[in-house]
Amino acid sequence: MKALVIHGPNLNLLGRREMSVYGTATLDEVDEMIRSTAGELGVEVDIHQTQREGEIIELLHSGLDRVDGAVLNPAAYSHTSRAIADAIRSVEYPVIEVHLSNIHAREPWRARSVTAGAARGVVAGFGPGSYVVALHALKGVIGER
Ligand code: DQA
Repeated sequence: MKALVIHGPNLNLLGRREMSVYGTATLDEVDEMIRSTAGELGVEVDIHQTQREGEIIELLHSGLDRVDGAVLNPAAYSHTSRAIADAIRSVEYPVIEVHLSNIHAREPWRARSVTAGAARGVVAGFGPGSYVVALHALKGVIGER
């Protein structure tokens, strides 16, 4: 089983960005956690980070006929990008949306994710653990298919 993991804009600055919200773990440390969980689950992960909306779309397209599912943190594009929502709907594999923070407990504009409705499910609020939960969920969802 193979999964794409995509981190959206500004997540490269984890560990030095709004640490009271996102915690102290760096993106490398988060990726280490993702690789370790994936290893336990027998999932091969292909991890990317990009600042660009179009690249998130291209990465999702690149998963067609190649991966069984994806874990995606669209970051701020969650709140604006109908194009990413359409890309999620365009690929036939399941995409799980993740957020480190609980987007429902922050500024009101963050509570609305325009991409979430296109995703198979959403995990938010558990810091890097959101990715761990999402990988477990993805494995379960793929197993059902
Ligand atoms: C985020 C939440 C978004 O609102 C924000 O723009 C991010 C990160 C999260 O993981 O909590 O950049 O997606």
